[in-house]
Amino acid sequence: MLLGEKGYVVAKMMELIVKICEAYGCGKLVKVNHVHVSGVSYSNIGEHGLEFIADTHRGGAKASVFTTTNPTCVDLSGKSKLIDSTFTGRQMVINRMFEEMGFQPTYSCIPYFFRKPSLDEHLSWGESSAVIYANSIYGARTNREGGPLTLASSLTGFTYYYGMHLDENRVVETIIELGEDVEPGLYGALGYWVGENINNVPMLRNVALDYPSIKILLAAAAATGNHALVVIENLTPQGTYRVLDRVEKIRIDSKEIEHLTVRESPEGYVLGYVGCPHLDPLEFNLIIERIKGRRLKPNCRLLVSVPYLFLSTHGREIEFLRRRGVEVVVGTCPIVSRLTEKPDFLLTNSGKAFFYMKNIHGVEAGIASIDFIVNSLFEKR
Ligand code: F3S
Repeated sequence: MLLGEKGYVVAKMMELIVKICEAYGCGKLVKVNHVHVSGVSYSNIGEHGLEFIADTHRGGAKASVFTTTNPTCVDLSGKSKLIDSTFTGRQMVINRMFEEMGFQPTYSCIPYFFRKPSLDEHLSWGESSAVIYANSIYGARTNREGGPLTLASSLTGFTYYYGMHLDENRVVETIIELGEDVEPGLYGALGYWVGENINNVPMLRNVALDYPSIKILLAAAAATGNHALVVIENLTPQGTYRVLDRVEKIRIDSKEIEHLTVRESPEGYVLGYVGCPHLDPLEFNLIIERIKGRRLKPNCRLLVSVPYLFLSTHGREIEFLRRRGVEVVVGTCPIVSRLTEKPDFLLTNSGKAFFYMKNIHGVEAGIASIDFIVNSLFEKR
């Protein structure tokens, strides 16, 4: 590939991987079975990012392995009034190029929903929330890659053998014991705390084995810290990590995270947000059950983000929610796009959304459980 047998673009992409490999001194590449491409949102990558993709596309190179794509910056149903549609044209140029290169039009941050990684499988994934989920829940092996490297991996089928691909970097140095009073509904705040305070691989004890809450926890830890692996005791597959002989042990109770959470319904225009990371069908149906028969209060809105695929698989449910005034957006989220109006307060169960909406979008925000959000926004049954 380096010599150009598969064309100029593939040669350049292989050169990129080899250079990174050399920089790390790892000396070896590894084949990957699934690539998840990040850097999809035009709002994030801008014209320079689009040009980079266009150069790759012009060379005629195609995905050599199963490749999924991260969310875009526009609501792909075209119906949202809350997500800005200014960049629709530029975003569609990116989507078309990706699809012509053979990438799956998933436009979602939960690639593991489309193809479950297997144990010890090597992957090249962008999107930190997906990376940490693949390593911690499936025992797969991927680093947190940036958009260009994921493109390179898709076109070549390889990545550099370093970081999370190696046993020696999957070593627990801190054990965090959760107090009984840390509610699973607030795991977004717990993950936020872990990312901010722990800078090695931690193992969490006493975690409630509730997948939606753990997904939220991991995404938050990856957003506020540089985590690619957080071991969940009794869940992370044995043999995909080891525990250091002398670990540091700490305990977290609810008081450590209460400054991140909201206990009383906020005043003014309140926007609730769930779906960061994107909801899977089970989580989506649970939201529907919670709000059935209830009406939004004045000055309150709820935004829900789901994979693009839902447009064809869950059309009826989306319509049901929209008739009740809920904004369901597909193939995007408010973090990688822009809101058309700024709420007085954003209530979310997601520690990742909380982090980015506050720090990047300048929106006042707080973390709360889904039940709390629904009860704050909707009239009683
Ligand atoms: Fe996904 Fe957007 Fe959150 S890409 S993880 S919903 S920031």
